[in-house]
Amino acid sequence: MRIDIVTIFPSFFDSPLREGVIHRACERGVLDIRVHDLRAFTLDRHRVTDDAPYGGGAGMVMKPEPLFAALEQLKGENPGATTVLLSPQGRLWRQALVREYGTRPGMILVCGRYEGVDERVREALVDEEISIGDYVLTGGETAALVLVETVARQVPGVVGQPESVAQDSFFAGLLDHPHYTRPAEFRGRAVPEVLLSGDHAAIARWRRREALRQTLRKRPELLAAAELSADDLKLLEEIRGADDRGC
Ligand code: ADE
Repeated sequence: MRIDIVTIFPSFFDSPLREGVIHRACERGVLDIRVHDLRAFTLDRHRVTDDAPYGGGAGMVMKPEPLFAALEQLKGENPGATTVLLSPQGRLWRQALVREYGTRPGMILVCGRYEGVDERVREALVDEEISIGDYVLTGGETAALVLVETVARQVPGVVGQPESVAQDSFFAGLLDHPHYTRPAEFRGRAVPEVLLSGDHAAIARWRRREALRQTLRKRPELLAAAELSADDLKLLEEIRGADDRGC
């Protein structure tokens, strides 16, 4: 998958893209991530990318000319890519959307700054506006990294252990179950016995039950949208019953 990132702070991406799973996937050619300095697409001597808003008011707006030049070039180079503007006004980025983007041929990520981008860029060149949460970041760079990391995980060959991505989807919409490693007992706290049993079916059932329990306790609103089987509903009933009894 090819991912293009358009930013006025290209060095922001140096370290995150030089580390770990993403870096290794780029080295193997599974991912092709290119960071573009928006200033390289300016035509004026001072390489200006922003200007005052028409109508007055605080802050600056990203000018249309360099963004049009950058996006027209990159759409040609990365055909089929979805052009995404990162902004707090966008559609909320959730795992279901992550999975959908994982099947697309590419992304062009536009990192917004200042008060926003000139509306004509959005109208003419942006396919989708995405927000990573209901808060305001200084710019879209951090959000772009979130998209890169989450979508990259879906691309076959990026994560060394495909079971780990399959597990993300098995537990889709639920919080994760607890994890333990050695020693089996530490400072008087024992690892749940079932995890030492070698009984894979029992372990899977325990993990599912704990995922449901964590979700019910911490994010109950997620249960309404999660894909739950008849077994899950039974487990939830049991958990609710146990909670009512104070277990
Ligand atoms: N830019 C500023 N805030 C943002 C957010 N919450 N998501 C995506 N891009 C942003």
